[in-house]
Amino acid sequence: MFGAIYRLPEQIEEAVSKMEYSIAQFKASLVRTIVITGLGGSAVGGDMLRSYAADKCPVPIFVNRGYTLPSYVGKDTLVIAVSYSGNTEETLSAYADAKRRGAQVVAVTSGGILKKQAWADGYVVVTVPGGLQPRAAAGYLFIPQMLLLQKAGLLPDCGEEITETVRVLYEMRLRLAPQVKSEHNLAKRIASRLFGKIPLIHGATGLTETIAYRWKTQLNENAQTVAFAHSYPELNHNEIVGFDVPLELIEKIEIITLTSNHNHPRVQKRIEITMGEVLANTACGRYELPAQGASELAQMFSLLYVGDYVSAYLAVLYGLDPTPVDKIVQLKNRLA
Ligand code: PA5
Repeated sequence: MFGAIYRLPEQIEEAVSKMEYSIAQFKASLVRTIVITGLGGSAVGGDMLRSYAADKCPVPIFVNRGYTLPSYVGKDTLVIAVSYSGNTEETLSAYADAKRRGAQVVAVTSGGILKKQAWADGYVVVTVPGGLQPRAAAGYLFIPQMLLLQKAGLLPDCGEEITETVRVLYEMRLRLAPQVKSEHNLAKRIASRLFGKIPLIHGATGLTETIAYRWKTQLNENAQTVAFAHSYPELNHNEIVGFDVPLELIEKIEIITLTSNHNHPRVQKRIEITMGEVLANTACGRYELPAQGASELAQMFSLLYVGDYVSAYLAVLYGLDPTPVDKIVQLKNRLA
């Protein structure tokens, strides 16, 4: 897991330079809606694309995590089916649904049934390198989706943002990698804050909401701990009322707030007031983590990168191996 996390910038570079994106099979001018369907580590790229493209893509993007697709899916929908293994039953079912409805389909996968079926059906297939845990393949799974939309004229050129993102991640890993001692390693220090606590990750509608949820799922799967995520401004309308619980409960909570200077100014104000005055008298831990880099893409990936490392370091603190997800395997076996 540590090796895969370390190589995130290389994943992004490879996705740009080595993978093949042919859009010959689909008609971009007909696309009125985009639906990205996937689960777990394979869905995160869709979440990120939805957030990133919200103010750039002329058509709406939805992320689907179920067996079937919404009723609006039809011939004018681009469905991107993402499954790293290619064998996730919900994604295969949603893929079949897309085919049944005559949608334009792209499959992003390292192999499995999805790859075979999508080839046989004559759809666009982006094959990503295999051998990783799906959640450790964020670069491979996100960049192809972004570049496909760019090629299809549904997103503006993102080359400069990708270049900045790679540079920021290379710089960050000099300070986040396992050989860097705790006193200089931000991810190890955040992992120590979370040790024995219930992580509550806060983002904000827009770029960081998605990444806060990614932190939650990485903490679940890598560190094998419960974790929760919520976002501004919505959490100002419910969650803040819930902090007046008994001390022994509140002491267990550690809030990590992911911030970005791309946040709406009123959201930024809400974060300051909430972290300061509103939570001033509660005993929960609080930590604010600003994004690195200037562009939206670099900021998203910088926060994701810290979270990935934090989840793996927390696993180590708990004496666990961050790679296997035995419970998910057991569940899949029971369902078979
Ligand atoms: O990251 C993981 O290991 C999981 O969350 C998987 O992504 C999830 O089980 C779905 O599998 P796949 O990504 O192969 O479709």
